[in-house]
Amino acid sequence: MKIAMIGCGHLGRAVLQGILDAGIAKRGSVSVTTHHAATAQTVAKNFGVKAGTDNAAVVRGCDLLIVATKPTQVLPVLRECAATLPAKVLVVSLAAAISTASIEGVLAKGTPVVRAMPNTPALVGCGMTAVAAGQHAREKHVVLVERVFNAVGRTIRVDEKHFDAVTGLSASGPAFVFMVIESMVDGGVKAGLPRQIATLLAAQTVMGSGAMVLGTGQHPALLKAGVTTPAGCTIDGLIALEEGGLRVALIKAVATASLRAGQLCVPTGTSAPKA
Ligand SMILES: NC(=O)c1ccc[n+]([C@@H]2O[C@H](COP(=O)([O-])OP(=O)(O)OC[C@H]3O[C@@H](n4cnc5c(N)ncnc54)[C@H](OP(=O)(O)O)[C@@H]3O)[C@@H](O)[C@H]2O)c1
Repeated sequence: MKIAMIGCGHLGRAVLQGILDAGIAKRGSVSVTTHHAATAQTVAKNFGVKAGTDNAAVVRGCDLLIVATKPTQVLPVLRECAATLPAKVLVVSLAAAISTASIEGVLAKGTPVVRAMPNTPALVGCGMTAVAAGQHAREKHVVLVERVFNAVGRTIRVDEKHFDAVTGLSASGPAFVFMVIESMVDGGVKAGLPRQIATLLAAQTVMGSGAMVLGTGQHPALLKAGVTTPAGCTIDGLIALEEGGLRVALIKAVATASLRAGQLCVPTGTSAPKA
């Protein structure tokens, strides 16, 4: 499979690394463009793929085009390459806020478009990607996109109307969890642990807890109860978290990030257009 990728920043690199590690495509069959030539050189050096800045050229002969620019750049870069992009090529956009319908609007009629919303843990094969098909995408296209992103973690099909919520939860989520881990590490340091040991303990604890939720299928509250011995130390920690407002803070984090996800093409400080 020949893959072209337009944009290769934080997320693009995570996905590219995952694709190469999983053997979805050979290095020689992947071509990437970035905005700056210097970035393209770095990508070529670090990943061993072809990289440049010519969007119209990079899509020639590809089977799959992945667009990983910021949302504001998605439609402009696709307009640049629309003339060299046959309608049979599957276009996958990783951008928040840009609908499949708006992407279809700038491409040749009938072009299959799929939206995918991965997250940066794709870099280590533990990504979570939501997938939604545009109006011309067939089952085989969605299956191909699932194959690509299953190689770097898990995928789930989600109605496109939920994509802002997905963005606020699982795409922004790693940042929230990193902050939780960072804080737990500081707690361990305060309790006397060397930082390196505290970091391993905190990160593995978060990973293991997530694995328990997925593996047991039990409600997180039940799993929490299993750790909370009557009159033990965990209940004191939970009370401290309730006092600190952890629950509300995380609910608001996801809710406000989801709200903002729908407005990413609106400059900050201005009001979003009415729906
Ligand atoms: N970051 C995440 O965790 C995450 C998660 C889920 C979805 N997303 C989505 O993924 C997309 C990328 O996010 P990101 O965080 O990876 O952004 P980023 O780090 O800013 O990367 C954007 C990339 O696009 C390139 N680019 C900009 N204009 C271009 C153009 N005209 N032609 C070709 N390439 C161009 C940039 O090139 P230069 O480096 O040369 O400027 C850069 O490589 C966004 O749409 C975002 O909504 C991100």
